[in-house]
Amino acid sequence: MPNTQPPHIDLLIRNARVVTCTDDACAVSAAGIVAITNGRIVGVGRADQLNAAVPVAAELDAEGALLTPGLIDCHTHLVYAGDRSREFEMRLQGASYEDIAKAGGGILSTLRQTRDAQSADLLAQSARRLRSLMQHGVTTVEIKSGYGLSQKAELKCLRVARELGEHFPIDVRTTLLAAHAVPPEFAGRPDAYIDEIVEHILPEAARLKLADAVDAFCETIGFTPAQTRRVFEAARAQGLPVKLHAEQLSNQGGAALAAEFGALSADHLEHLDETGVIAMARAGTVAVMLPGAFYFLRDTRVPPIALLRQHGVPMAVSTDCNPGTSPGTHLPLMMNMACTLFRLTPAEALLGVTRHAATALGLSATHGSVEVGKQADLCLWDVDHPAELSYAIGASPLRARIHRGVQTALH
Ligand code: NIG
Ligand code: FE
Repeated sequence: MPNTQPPHIDLLIRNARVVTCTDDACAVSAAGIVAITNGRIVGVGRADQLNAAVPVAAELDAEGALLTPGLIDCHTHLVYAGDRSREFEMRLQGASYEDIAKAGGGILSTLRQTRDAQSADLLAQSARRLRSLMQHGVTTVEIKSGYGLSQKAELKCLRVARELGEHFPIDVRTTLLAAHAVPPEFAGRPDAYIDEIVEHILPEAARLKLADAVDAFCETIGFTPAQTRRVFEAARAQGLPVKLHAEQLSNQGGAALAAEFGALSADHLEHLDETGVIAMARAGTVAVMLPGAFYFLRDTRVPPIALLRQHGVPMAVSTDCNPGTSPGTHLPLMMNMACTLFRLTPAEALLGVTRHAATALGLSATHGSVEVGKQADLCLWDVDHPAELSYAIGASPLRARIHRGVQTALH
C-alpha cells in the first residue's frame, strides 16, 4: 500500500471504486481499498499493495460501490425555530422577498420564534434538519447564527450548533452572522447595531470560542459595504476568518470587499461582476453557489459561472438551509440544481460539495478528499458513475456513511 505503514488498520474498505476528488475530472479508480486508522485515512490504493503483515480489525466490502469523500455543506442557517410557510404563500400571491422583509417579516419573523425558543427545543428542531442532511451523505456542516441578533440569542444559537456537533456524528463549523439583519431594538439605527456587534457580540463569541468564522449580509436589505467592513475589521482583530453573503439581490461590491479581507468564501453571487471575480481569484476566495435560494426565490439572474471558471475561482455548492429562501436539507438535490440551473458540470458539482467546500471552511488540509492523512469521512454510493450523484432526484443511492472512520446508521 502506498505512502504509509500503519501499525494496524481499524477499518479496511475493499472493492470500492474510489473518487478521490483530488483531480478536477473526478476520475474513478478501479476496484481499490481505503485503509483507516484512528479516524484517518492511512492508505488508498490497490488490494495487492496491502502489506499482509498489518493487522486489520474490521473490513467492509463495498461490492463495487462508488466511494467519495463525505459531503460538506459549507453554508447553512440550520439553527432556527418555526417556519415561514405563510410567507411562501404570500410570495406565491405576488409579494417579493424584499417586500416581506421590509414589512417586518422575513428574517425578523424567524428571529421572534428563535428568541422565544428554549435551547432544548431549538436543538430538537435543528436536529431534525441535521439528521436529514446526514441521511444525504453530509459529514461536515457549517452552521451560522443570525436569527438571534442579540448577544444572548446569538450565543444561544451558536451553543446549540456546537451541541449538535457533540451529539451527532458530524463535524460542525460555526459562523457568527450577527450582521444578518437589524433587530427591532435597533430599528432605524443600523450603525448602532454594528457598534453592538463589534464591541460586544463578536468579541464575546470569540472569547467563548463559539465561532469559527464571521459572516455578514451585505445587501440593500442588509448592511452596507462600510458596515460590513467594520464587522470584518472586528473579526480580524479576533483572528477569525470571514465570509460574506454577497451580490445576492444587487451588486454592492461585497465580493471584492470580502476578498480584501482574504475571505474564505463569498456566497450567492448572482450579481457578481468581473472585478469581483478577479478580486476573489487573487485572494483564493471560494465562490459558494446556492441554487436552492435561486430556485426558491424564482431568481432569473445566474451567477457568472463562465467568468468564475475563466479566472480559476473554485466553486462550492451548498444548501443554504434556512427558513426563508432555501428550506432544504438535500445536498445532492443542490448538486442537481447547480447543474440544471447554473450549468455546472456534474464533476464541478461534486467538487463543490467536497474539496472546494472544505476550502470554503478553511478545512482543506484535513477534509474534502480521499487522501492519506485526511480525516476518514467517506460515502459509499450505489451508482456507476459520479455524474449520477447530480443526476438522480429523489431516492438516495447512499449505501454507507463513514464519519471519522466509523460507519454511521443512515436512518
Ligand atoms: O442566505 N440572504 C440572507 N440570508 C439567508 C436568508 C435568510 C432568511 O430569509 O431567513 C440566505 O438566503
Ligand atoms: Fe445564507
